Amino acid sequence: MELRHLRYFVAVAEERNVTRAAARLHMAQPPLSRQMQQLEEMLGVALFEKGSRPLALTEAGSFFLAHARPLLDQVRDLKAMTQRIGKLERTLAIGFVASTLYGQLPDIVHHYSELHPEVDVSLHEMTTMEQLAALKDGRIDVGFGRLTGEDASIRRILLREERLVVALPPGHRLAASGAGLRLTDLLHDTLLVYPKAPRPSFADQVLAMFSAGHLTPGRVTEVRELQISLGLVAAGQGIAIVPESVQAMHHRSVVYRPLEDTHAYSPILFSVRQMDHSPELADMLAAVYAIYDEQGVAHVKESLRGVDQ
Ligand code: BEZ
Repeated sequence: MELRHLRYFVAVAEERNVTRAAARLHMAQPPLSRQMQQLEEMLGVALFEKGSRPLALTEAGSFFLAHARPLLDQVRDLKAMTQRIGKLERTLAIGFVASTLYGQLPDIVHHYSELHPEVDVSLHEMTTMEQLAALKDGRIDVGFGRLTGEDASIRRILLREERLVVALPPGHRLAASGAGLRLTDLLHDTLLVYPKAPRPSFADQVLAMFSAGHLTPGRVTEVRELQISLGLVAAGQGIAIVPESVQAMHHRSVVYRPLEDTHAYSPILFSVRQMDHSPELADMLAAVYAIYDEQGVAHVKESLRGVDQ
């Protein structure tokens, strides 16, 4: 059995349709069907229920899918890691969600580069979901994102839980309130959430806070990114819930009020490839904690086991 059989099988099993899987794999349908037949013959078992539409997996097919996926992940990690180790120059490609630019990210990168001038650091703005794919493909080495979630090939460390605030236009009825706000105060407004895609995203984190409190926001408008949502707040088109560090981005037509609900926090996570034990990662984590300590930022201190020893 070849690796291509696994790749082809996973595509067909996920699409539940050979034509769609062939399009995804950029190949014609007949050779893909032949490869699937060959695979079943080699294994001597049926992987798909005969005649099912959409395609359904047999018990053996489900077992094969569950084990083929991590194998393919390992192969992809192996490729990315081998390329990284083989490079002569030391590089560190960092993926970050836009809001972290207003938090500690600039100070952390500056501190790291001062300590490690030999490492060529590059910064790439992307959502947490895009960071996962970029880590797996080797396009970035570390991601600073906000979404939790399990992925066997990614190691994640919770850095801190950041408070959320409400962004409002200055003339808004809630802008005058000296006290903090609660989600129940926001139900009559248009709520601007971002990013619209890919999902899940910070937008879902915000909406989940309402659901957790058994609340429904009045009207929800999804926008592409943080800056657009703040621009629309300034234009009086709605209000937005954003991490408190975003307050550093002063806009004359946006004011911020604290959100006081007990669960109004958003995590900041450090994500790396499970297999990556490069010293750059442990050094980067040390730079994060050094800036937190210097600036008195409350945080959780976890270590990258196997990387920082
Ligand atoms: C922070 O704001 O805590 C942070 C931002 C980017 C990277 C690491 C930490």
